[in-house]
Amino acid sequence: MKIIGTGSAIPRKQVSNDDIARFLDTSDEWIFPRTGIRSRHVITDERLEDLASQAAQSALQMAGLTVEDIDLFICSNVVNEYMTPGLSSIISAKTGLHCPCMDINCACPGFIYAMDIADSYFAAGKVNNVLVVCAEEPSKMTSWQDRSTCVLFGDGAGAAVLTLGDGLRGIKLYSEPSPDKIWEYRNLMPTPYVVKQEEDVPLQMKGREVFRFAVSTSVRDIRKLVEDAGLRLEDVDHFMIHQANMRIVDAIRSELNVDESKFHTNIYDHGNSSSASCPILLDECNRAGCFKKGDILVFSAFGAGLLSGAALLEWQI
Ligand code: UT7
Repeated sequence: MKIIGTGSAIPRKQVSNDDIARFLDTSDEWIFPRTGIRSRHVITDERLEDLASQAAQSALQMAGLTVEDIDLFICSNVVNEYMTPGLSSIISAKTGLHCPCMDINCACPGFIYAMDIADSYFAAGKVNNVLVVCAEEPSKMTSWQDRSTCVLFGDGAGAAVLTLGDGLRGIKLYSEPSPDKIWEYRNLMPTPYVVKQEEDVPLQMKGREVFRFAVSTSVRDIRKLVEDAGLRLEDVDHFMIHQANMRIVDAIRSELNVDESKFHTNIYDHGNSSSASCPILLDECNRAGCFKKGDILVFSAFGAGLLSGAALLEWQI
């Protein structure tokens, strides 16, 4: 498979570190040096499915395809307002898609997991074109009274159109299952047998553990992927790392000992948008003309689960 179109859509409302410092005991001086984040976009009067549909349409337009050409739609998302139908069905209805669709919840590496699923469908000869949309609204999971989490995240949607081809040179998925629950939703309907008393628990994160997992898994995944593709790290033109924290990206870069200019980042005005992070970065770089045909791109993402994924692609647009 190869990528032939990218798209993204970001909420209008931009919230700076100074904005948050008006109602929380925090500051730009604390947030920026530790995370690389200056501001993030947060959904207010928009709806997640509208952003997702917008991102999908941009990607389809770039690919020169219409909704009729898509054989499978995979939506990556962690939390949205519906339990059923899946967000993929809601986005399909908005976008006019009529193909089979499915939802995956693989947290931050969702884009890479979706590409891996798509790759299997291509290999099985079941599809010609696949649409992947990663749509995330982490602002609704965090407590805006918890300075250790709410400052880290931002909302948005990123999309890619994949078609038959030989752009994908390798993909690697990994899991290190952890019993820790990151976000617990307890507000289900009561049954006559269980009396519910608990409150919903906002997002909780062991920041330092995630940090360590992110760096070690990403370095290991990237090294193996590059080696398996018969390449050297110097052959990679662009590193597209999940935008969780600038210090994580810097640590990965320094372990790999790769030139800074090859690492693309947009965390300073997006924050961590979970699985939407990689495809939003991809779309921004693509539209800015960063890639040329034949360039080697490496994606690496890590997050809740704990899950990680990495992919190596030759750019073919
Ligand atoms: O997709 C993966 C998602 N997860 C991540 O990206 C998380 C990766 N981890 C991280 O990015 C870092 O661990 C954080 C940025 C979350 C935290 O940095 P840290 O250097 O590990 O700080 P800490 O959690 O150990 O907190 C140090 C201090 C604490 O105060 P005390 O207990 O030492 O008095 C916190 O209460 O900093 C305090 N603190 C803050 N202060 C001002 C935590 N958050 C804030 C804040 N503003 N926003």
